[in-house]
Amino acid sequence: MYSSNSIFESIPEAPEDAVFGIQRQCSTDEHEMKLDLSVGAYRTEEGKPWILPVVKKAELKLMEIGLNHEYLPIEGNKRFSSLAANLILGDAFYNANTRRIVSVQALSGTGAVRLGAEFACKWFRNCVVYISNPTWVNHKNIFNTLGIKVRTYRYWNAKTFSINFEGMKQDLRDAPDGCLVVLHACAHNPTGTDPTQSQWVELSKIFKEKSHIPFFDSSYQGFATGDLDKDAFPIRYFASQGHEMFIAQSFAKNMGLYGERVGAFTAITTNARSFTAIKTQLCRLIRANYSNPPRFGAAVAEMVLGDPALFQEWKLCLKSMAERLQLLREKLYDTLILKKTPGDWSHILRQIGLFCYTGITAKQVEHLVTRFHIYLIPNGRISLAGLSAKTIPYLVDSLHAVIVEPS
Ligand SMILES: Cc1ncc(COP(=O)(O)O)c(C=O)c1O
Repeated sequence: MYSSNSIFESIPEAPEDAVFGIQRQCSTDEHEMKLDLSVGAYRTEEGKPWILPVVKKAELKLMEIGLNHEYLPIEGNKRFSSLAANLILGDAFYNANTRRIVSVQALSGTGAVRLGAEFACKWFRNCVVYISNPTWVNHKNIFNTLGIKVRTYRYWNAKTFSINFEGMKQDLRDAPDGCLVVLHACAHNPTGTDPTQSQWVELSKIFKEKSHIPFFDSSYQGFATGDLDKDAFPIRYFASQGHEMFIAQSFAKNMGLYGERVGAFTAITTNARSFTAIKTQLCRLIRANYSNPPRFGAAVAEMVLGDPALFQEWKLCLKSMAERLQLLREKLYDTLILKKTPGDWSHILRQIGLFCYTGITAKQVEHLVTRFHIYLIPNGRISLAGLSAKTIPYLVDSLHAVIVEPS
């Protein structure tokens, strides 16, 4: 009845995703000391996911109010996306420019980057796209699956463990005019290293000279410094300088709404006449992709952002997560120094946010996985959130071993 020739026969297997693949591998490992340092998700000292108390409160309130399951409009929850744009742009700019700020709900940060990429692909024909080297593993993926090849700008100096700012500027100057350039708003993934405020000022000038379009990926607002306003500096500065730009926002990390896929995409135009054209074209893309976004997570975020008391409480939650990550960072550094593990580990202290870009080699990472059941992605990036005061000594002993005895 069935022919042995399948239309699927010639399709090769796709490689497993770097982060989710390692997480899967770790989940099947039964070693009692195993550590999952791959995925960027905040965990408690006991290694458990943390539902932010303020999020729980908002959920209970929503239950009391009673939610229905009707479709949202194509653009999603309008109040949520306006509050999200306001959060990242700040009251002053937002209130003065509402007719130039187009925001829609998106499927978390990934969906927002994807929506912006698709919009750029359709309307900025032949636009060259730049991403940082290194960057979040999915940036290249997102553009490549749309048939857009990406170029990279230098970002990292592996010798000094700091930004290669001269290289970055040179590459952005040497790029053709009018490129779409993906920038991490704060807590750069994977390096945990951001430009300084004065470097952002320099970058803004280069973007102006070259007519580059900034595409800010903001997945960690509040996670870098614990302060929502400080972490929004580059976006607010660029906006104040009159750049037309894109912003992809995620509420996965800062509200702990990972699987609820809560995000927003914002475009800022200098010409309010383009507002409706941008909005309707974004809606067209959304309609063709998933018709309209899910309700629940956005309703939770809307409540937290829109209720002054809950908003204040959220800020405290953010502060506590950022401070705990900083303590873990310091403990990791202190333990490495105490152990006299070869290397200058001061870069760990200079980095910020959820990640620690250790500088260990792919071979050393492989040894951590096979010999010590410690799972991290091959570029040596550690998610600090996967650690606790209890597990740091085991990580340091293991790191020491793979560096000192690389058998
Ligand atoms: C730089 C960056 N962008 C986007 C995302 C997307 O996250 P999500 O789609 O879960 O919001 C992440 C998550 O790790 C990230 O690090």
